[in-house]
Amino acid sequence: DKAGYKHFMAKEIAEQPAVITQTLQAYLDGDRIRLPEPGIDFASLDRLTLVACGTAHYACLTAKYWFEQLAALPVDIDVASEFRYREPPIPARTAAIFVSQSGETADTLAALRYAQGKAEMIGAVVNVAESTIARESDIVLPIHAGAEIGVASTKAFTCQLTVLLLLALKAAQDRGHLSDSDMAEKLGLVRSLPGILNQALAIEEPASDISRRLSEARDILFLGRGIMYPLALEGALKLKEISYIHAEAYASGELKHGPIALIDEHVPVIVMAPRDNLFDKTISNMQEVMARGGRILLISDQAGIEQAGSGVWSALPMPTVDPLLTPILYALPAQLLAYHTAVHKGTDVDQPRNLAKSVTVE
Ligand code: F6R
Repeated sequence: DKAGYKHFMAKEIAEQPAVITQTLQAYLDGDRIRLPEPGIDFASLDRLTLVACGTAHYACLTAKYWFEQLAALPVDIDVASEFRYREPPIPARTAAIFVSQSGETADTLAALRYAQGKAEMIGAVVNVAESTIARESDIVLPIHAGAEIGVASTKAFTCQLTVLLLLALKAAQDRGHLSDSDMAEKLGLVRSLPGILNQALAIEEPASDISRRLSEARDILFLGRGIMYPLALEGALKLKEISYIHAEAYASGELKHGPIALIDEHVPVIVMAPRDNLFDKTISNMQEVMARGGRILLISDQAGIEQAGSGVWSALPMPTVDPLLTPILYALPAQLLAYHTAVHKGTDVDQPRNLAKSVTVE
């Protein structure tokens, strides 16, 4: 049931404030983070390995920044199809966490089976709590996104991010990097997420206008730095999946190592630049693109857009938030731009060609 929306994807994008509220309810207990039994004692771990495919892999890549920055816990990341055949050594005191909306992805399941008996503990961050990946794990961490029907993952991604952020905060506390009062402050921020996401959904109209122009492009680049890099990857994946426009993402600092050769007036460049500690660096990369005739779509908050100055092709203003929340917030413009570009192109948004919701063969 699309509940009045034109596509499941539109419904699932709009549902995000509500489903994240559910996710938070399941994991928050006052000023504490409560994990399902048997819990995870992050103080006893030296390393995490996060493995997944596609969008879930980008959730892992985002979470790596959180675990490393908040909890000083080193994280290895891999796509499941590489991990399973590379057969990497898994050092002692490593927990392996597998992230999968469906819980049935063949490569992710095979990667999990490889880690069994080698990792200290196996965790599953899944939407389907009765799935095979959940059943074969030591701890099941449900994301509570509700059924996701659109083939392109949207609400599952932001709910995965929410659970992974809470795990990183729990890890920070277990490992002595977060006092009780700092934890209370961070959880206050986390609790503000649904309201902020609601506010951000107001960019739908400008996002649709910009998408009409994006729909004429043959190639589109996404740039992001730091924790925005995985969001740029997710934006490019979403766009190519449903609009069939060729899109690629780069860490902004990599631009001058090759991809800048692609820039001309025909290539829109979408820059994800919240006002964090890397803002100035990203903006200077943006200016390098502009100097070569590239058309910039800047996604930042109002103050960031003003600070970046004139000359951008277009800008999409986001609410101002603490850097802790930007990855989850900036998933929305990534989704909305992909969605509206696909709608303008008239593609089958919920059932893109060649793709299946659950990839149960390798
Ligand atoms: C992208 C998308 C896919 C899935 C991937 C993993 O929009 O939906 O990239 O994220 O196939 O699927 P799960 O999470 O079910 O393992």
